[in-house]
Amino acid sequence: MLTPPTVNMNIVVIGSGAREHALVWKLAQHSTATLYNYGPTTNPGIVPLVQEIGIGDVTAVADVVQWCQERQVTIAWIGPEAPLAAGLVDALEGLGISCIGPTKKLAQLESSKSFTRQLLQKYQVPGSPQYQVFTTLAGVEDFIRSLNDAVVVKPDGLTGGKGVRVMGEQLQQRADAVAYCAELLSHHGQRVVVEEKLIGQEFSLMSMADGKNLVHLPPVQDHKRALNGDLGSNTGGMGSYSAANHSLPFLTAADIAAAQRINERTLEAIEEEFHERYKGIMYGGFMAVRDGVRLIEYNARFGDPEVMNIMAVLDTDLVTITDHILNGTLDQCTVQWRPQASVCKYVVPVGYPDQPVSNVSIDVGQVDTASVQLFYGAVDQTTTGLVMKGSRAIAVVAVADTITAAEQQVEQQIQRIIGPIYHRADIGTAALINQRVTMLKQLRHG
Ligand code: AMP
Ligand code: GLY
Repeated sequence: MLTPPTVNMNIVVIGSGAREHALVWKLAQHSTATLYNYGPTTNPGIVPLVQEIGIGDVTAVADVVQWCQERQVTIAWIGPEAPLAAGLVDALEGLGISCIGPTKKLAQLESSKSFTRQLLQKYQVPGSPQYQVFTTLAGVEDFIRSLNDAVVVKPDGLTGGKGVRVMGEQLQQRADAVAYCAELLSHHGQRVVVEEKLIGQEFSLMSMADGKNLVHLPPVQDHKRALNGDLGSNTGGMGSYSAANHSLPFLTAADIAAAQRINERTLEAIEEEFHERYKGIMYGGFMAVRDGVRLIEYNARFGDPEVMNIMAVLDTDLVTITDHILNGTLDQCTVQWRPQASVCKYVVPVGYPDQPVSNVSIDVGQVDTASVQLFYGAVDQTTTGLVMKGSRAIAVVAVADTITAAEQQVEQQIQRIIGPIYHRADIGTAALINQRVTMLKQLRHG
């Protein structure tokens, strides 16, 4: 294993959310590097961990680049998807700043659903649902009918997870699906992907890639719905868990191997198609279905909240891993994970995501930080304390021998947080997990 370099390592983490707080937190643990942060807001959790915070729009590429140059930044970790799609990596690398995150072209893996579906089809990567890409309404209705109306309609670009409509949820009948396609196509240049609705259990399998080699991370399950019982609107993710055996209670070893293989094959396809190294995170959103696993989508960055589970159980120095990613030597890097489970729950302002209260205070002073780690999201530090800004506020993360124990630790500490907050009490409970296990068992074995 390489020892972390000690000279001239100035690392910037781009982005201001809890995902970026978790990245900075991990980099700061062992690091001999000097850390910086650049993003739209000052994250109070990041403040004590970095040399300096730059405030600005992360898609204003020229501004970010100038700021990094002035600080002699040598390495950039890109947290969110928007700067990847805006070409921040291309600009930084053009000036010799190495990046963890793909170039604009390769970031289409996330920013264009049709790009990904077509790439996977061309290279015969298994796991795609049936799909078609449409630029006009011609053929849309026939295709939906051919799938017995069990479809999902997606705009082609970045949607923040919110533009997707699923039959039986946001869509009730064929006419709704056609109408939504028409609405999306009416936006100039918009393309729409219609695909088979998959039935099963979702999980995230993220891998770190150096262009050639992959290190697979333990699978994590996120919970997108706002309310207990998987009710309410879709959100960025209300919480997540990972298991001590680095599987998930509803997955088989074959499921995990299949998902890992899809990430590997996709990396090979990218290399063959573009002759360019994909450096960064390949985040496969998978569905475990009746007869195996399917790929729902790729993201080109860490999941939020999933990254918090990963960082909480990652034992290896992230600066060392960073070096291996940049050098293309991930195959020589032994990445070690604690054999423990993790649970992450977001506390959010009451009413999130549809009508959140905003600019209201949240008090975490009573939380036992030996029991849980707090990662700050949409909160500001004011002279009178922390204030919630309307989105996911604070992620509460515990690591323990079992999912149940970690869940209880998180719950105990959330009870000590004061403010008009909501969180999903069911994430990580045996009751919800058993439901998922039973659902998939019935699907697979009747
Ligand atoms: P995406 O933006 O692709 O992550 O989609 C958002 C959510 O829509 C996913 O997390 C799934 O819950 C759901 N979804 C997307 N594609 C499908 C599909 N083919 N079948 C069933 N559900 C899907
Ligand atoms: N956990 C969902 C996302 O990061 O997109």
